[in-house]
Parts: sequence; structure tokens; C-alpha cells
Amino acid sequence: MTSIKVGPLADDLPFGAKITGITWAAVKDNAVRKQIKETFEERGVVVFKNVEATEEMHFALSEIAGPLQDHPLRATMRDKPLVESAAKPDLADLTYKGDIIDANGAVLTAWLPWHFDACYTNKLNRAGVLRPISIPPEGGMTGFADGVQLYNAISPALREKFKDLKIVYHSYLMYMHQRFGMPANHRWLSVSDGVAKLLKRCEGARRSVHPAIWKRTSGEYVLHVSPWQAAGIYGRMNREGDELLEELSQEIYAKMKPYFHKWAPTDMVLWDNWRLIHSASGNDPKYARHLQRTTVQGDYGLGDFEPGVEGHAPPSMD
Ligand SMILES: [Fe+2]
Repeated sequence: MTSIKVGPLADDLPFGAKITGITWAAVKDNAVRKQIKETFEERGVVVFKNVEATEEMHFALSEIAGPLQDHPLRATMRDKPLVESAAKPDLADLTYKGDIIDANGAVLTAWLPWHFDACYTNKLNRAGVLRPISIPPEGGMTGFADGVQLYNAISPALREKFKDLKIVYHSYLMYMHQRFGMPANHRWLSVSDGVAKLLKRCEGARRSVHPAIWKRTSGEYVLHVSPWQAAGIYGRMNREGDELLEELSQEIYAKMKPYFHKWAPTDMVLWDNWRLIHSASGNDPKYARHLQRTTVQGDYGLGDFEPGVEGHAPPSMD
């Protein structure tokens, strides 16, 4: 009989859970797996504390949320693959070295604004699990904000205006090209060669369209808007529409009750990409920050590419 302990992330947060007691016996136990899956569905973010800091455990915890996106080349990408199966799950390396922002006077690297992953494409992956590889001694936190909390917290007038609206996203609209919700007094100072090349590949890519608000099977409404990579409101790509989307972006920042995770080496964090938006607080460029992320497959079925507009497929990105 194995057991885990499930508790709140913080007393005043309406989302998130903290789980301790994860062992190999626990992750193989069907009753425990069910408990973790249900906690994920109900709470949106699950912080696993004091887990074995290995790739095998990273994959094992991720697979509880659902099947993982495979990486066809993975078996040959590493000298010694740790998980011996025919298909190797994809593992995104998040490093961001060389991308520098002036954030209100603080010079930071590894800063990312609020977003959900893959908003720029038509299908939304279900979830991800982050694992720290190298963490700075200060800063470098990952922020999570709950779309259910946001839906309930924004002004009723904005909720009404956006209830049937869709947002257009374009992969190109990131870093110095971000159009909406750029925090005050934030200015990109430089981007890495890798990001510059990625931005080039995003030029001419198809744009995606996702609802601003959607309803979970649980009946809860989710406000799910990513200021990062937003191009505008579908059918209202004009000044009035842009002002309305900027107003919503600022309302999101004003009303969110975020959770910022300070990483310990033995943490892993699972989050629902259909429900949450997330961000990275950034850290002093003199420190390295390296996280790895698995991708849990899935699609909520509400996104699409912009109809009637040609373009190439957006490049995949971490
Ligand atoms: Fe992300």
C-alpha cells in the first residue's frame, strides 16, 4: 500500500496542489495514479516535492497526465538514452541564454511574459511537466495563473464582451514584436542568435485562432488569453479591437492571483495548458537557468488556423 500526501499550494489560492511522498512504487500504483490525475484535473497545477531528480521519473510523472509527445530522433540524440522504449518522449530544453530584457531597471535573462504554450498553432497540447536542471540562486521563478480564477475575477463588462470572441495568434509576435500586454517599463535589449533565427522562420507562418473563453467539461469557464503572440481579436483587427484586447491584457494582470514557483532541485511541476497561463520571472544573466519540459499530447478541439489565409506551418518552439 503506497500513499502520497496532497495539500494546497497556499491557503489563499483557489488552484494548485502540492504532492509529497512520490516514490517509484507510488507512480506505478493505479490508485495513486488516479489520485494524481484527479488532482491535476481539479487544481490545474501540481507541484511534486522531493522527487527523484531523474529523467525516468520526469517521464513517469508526465505520463500520468496522458501520453507524451514522441521525439522520433530521441534515441540517437543522447549518448545513453535513459528510457528504453521504441518511442522516446520529446524533452524541450529551456535555456534562453542571451535574451536580455530591461524590466523596470533590472537587467534579466530567461524572462518570459504570460502565455500558454503553442497558442500560435491550431492544436493545444494538454499539459507539460517542468524539471529544473540548473537553477539560479535567486529569481528564475515560474509563474502560473489560473484561467478559471481569471474568468471569475475580471470585470463583468469585459467578461460579457469577450464571451464569444476569438483571439488571433502569430508565432512572430514575441520578444520585441509583442503587440499586447507588454508590462510597463519593459524593453528587450538583445535576443540570442537562436531566437533571431526562430523569428525569421516565423515570418509568413499561418496564424491560429482560439476562443478567449471556453467551458471545461467540469462546467467551469476559463479565460484563456495569451498576450504573448496575440495579433488581435478575430474579425476586429482594427484600432478599436486592439484597444479592447489591450484592456483585457491589463485586466488579466490586475486581477490575477498568480503562484510563483521557486525551484528546488528535487521539484517537478505539472500544469494544465488548456486552463493556465504561465510566465518566467527572469534572473540575473550571470546565472545559468536550464529547465526541461515534457509535452503531454492532446487537443481541446477549439482552435484552428485562420480560415482563408495562406502561410507555412509555424515552426515548433520550446
Ligand atoms: Fe511556456
